[in-house]
Amino acid sequence: MKKVCNIIWVLICFFISNQLAAQNLDAFNYGIQKQAAVSKGAVVSAHPLASKVGLSILKMGGNAVDAAIATQLALAVVYPGAGNIGGGGFMLAHLMNGKNIAIDYREKAPSKASRDMYLDAKGDAQMKWSQDGHLAAGVPGTIAGLFASHKYGRLPFKKLIAPAILLAEKGFAITANEAAALNRTKKEFESLNFSPVAFVKSTLWKEGDTLVQKQLAGTLKRIRDKGAKGFYEGATADMLVAEMNRGKGLISLQDLKNYNAVEREAVIFDYKGYQIVTMPLPSSGGIILEQMMKMIENRDIAAMQFQTVASVQLMTEVERRAFADRAAFLGDPDFVKVPVKSLVSDAYLRARMSDYVAGKAGSSTLTGAGNIKESEETTHLSIVDKEGNAVSVTTTLNGGYGSRTVVAGAGFLLNNEMDDFSVKPGVPNMYGAVGNEKNAIAPNKRMLSSMTPTIVLQSGKPYLVVGTPGGTTIPTSVFQTIVNVLDFKMTALEAVNQPKFHHQWLPDLIMVEKDFNPATKVALEAMGYKLTMRGNIGRTELIMVNREKGVVSINAVGDKRGDDAAEGY
Ligand code: GLY
Repeated sequence: MKKVCNIIWVLICFFISNQLAAQNLDAFNYGIQKQAAVSKGAVVSAHPLASKVGLSILKMGGNAVDAAIATQLALAVVYPGAGNIGGGGFMLAHLMNGKNIAIDYREKAPSKASRDMYLDAKGDAQMKWSQDGHLAAGVPGTIAGLFASHKYGRLPFKKLIAPAILLAEKGFAITANEAAALNRTKKEFESLNFSPVAFVKSTLWKEGDTLVQKQLAGTLKRIRDKGAKGFYEGATADMLVAEMNRGKGLISLQDLKNYNAVEREAVIFDYKGYQIVTMPLPSSGGIILEQMMKMIENRDIAAMQFQTVASVQLMTEVERRAFADRAAFLGDPDFVKVPVKSLVSDAYLRARMSDYVAGKAGSSTLTGAGNIKESEETTHLSIVDKEGNAVSVTTTLNGGYGSRTVVAGAGFLLNNEMDDFSVKPGVPNMYGAVGNEKNAIAPNKRMLSSMTPTIVLQSGKPYLVVGTPGGTTIPTSVFQTIVNVLDFKMTALEAVNQPKFHHQWLPDLIMVEKDFNPATKVALEAMGYKLTMRGNIGRTELIMVNREKGVVSINAVGDKRGDDAAEGY
């Protein structure tokens, strides 16, 4: 009997290896390609295997939406720190017929959530409760989002999920970055789970070790066989709720059953002859991107040049003003009234910049929110296909590996997205961002996001497909990447890899990467700005599509800051 089992197992392994090989996917021997200069289609994501999965879908006749679905599912396996089925995200697409699609699959607060649930008896915010473990999790949206997106795809869902199942079941070789991140998180995995998890082993992880996720493979198979119900109902839902009960989390069977992804109107605005399509609320990203770009549009930033004192000061001051407005005015539009039109109107933005003085440092004490009378660990992928469809997707578990709690039996990590609510007005969240009542917790409400999947159109066709992880630094990184290309005329590679900086109103300081221009830093400090060096800002995935004389050339770039990889054909 044992012999027969062994033979069957060998045959299964052989079958699986053949399927992976057929997709040109050697999960144990792969490199990281940072750039792809191609003519038909391209995928850029946070992990080389996920980018390869997306490319294989394009090559087998899928469109960019199909590839985006398969890439996200693969990321849920090979990039567990942020790729997910236990989190949420946003898909933005510009289809070949000119239609713009914005799908919101942001997590929701459980129905038992309440405004002060993270305050202790003294009324002090307990950030551990909103960041670690079961109570930090919002109702996951990713699977609902993938099925809502699939309406615009072409291939059967079973085909799109197959590579993820194989990668989970058979395993894959982890990168050095993944090994380091898993080792860093070992203690939390152990303390925030009641059962052993695939992410912990007796010895430390090292590059090339195999990560196998059998329970996750089981969940993905239930989704393959039963659709979204394979996640939101039945065995997976039961396991998720049992996990909640073990750790005093709030997500109920009814919360899962009631979860819905929402198709929303994309934010669309013009900038110097380009049309920018980006994500609406409940992401703050699109609105503040529009504010920032409109506040610089009538100034000759190109003449100021890249990362000079003049250009950094201007961009810092528009970032400050946009983030002050974010804190005051933005929240889930299904729950609170947000004066979106006023916030992006020319008159308002002109008034907002009326106290800007070049050469004089601004201050967040003096610059509050505007006057309106009537509101880090995430991952991004960009895809274009040969038909002219473009997809920009950002998804998140919030912190690295989310709540670090794995649903026992189902093998997937839960988000800690509840921390993106304003846990208490004025108290900073894990990104140091503050908010007020507009982003207060309420049952079934979506927490405000910063994710900014964006597509820049030139003459109505996709020119840039861009986005990044990075919490509150997301909109400012997208802003700077777009300005790098449109104003400073950089190549895609330069635009992504140049040092970034970030100001978010509070705290009142400019965060800069270590390779930020030292002379500019000194001059800004002399002007009165406080600058602080920090680690990497974002991991931008950019695709640039040029159409000179009708000839399409695509340049896809994965950020130098991580394992990000570009594939194309
Ligand atoms: N969790 C990061 C964001 O949604 O902005």
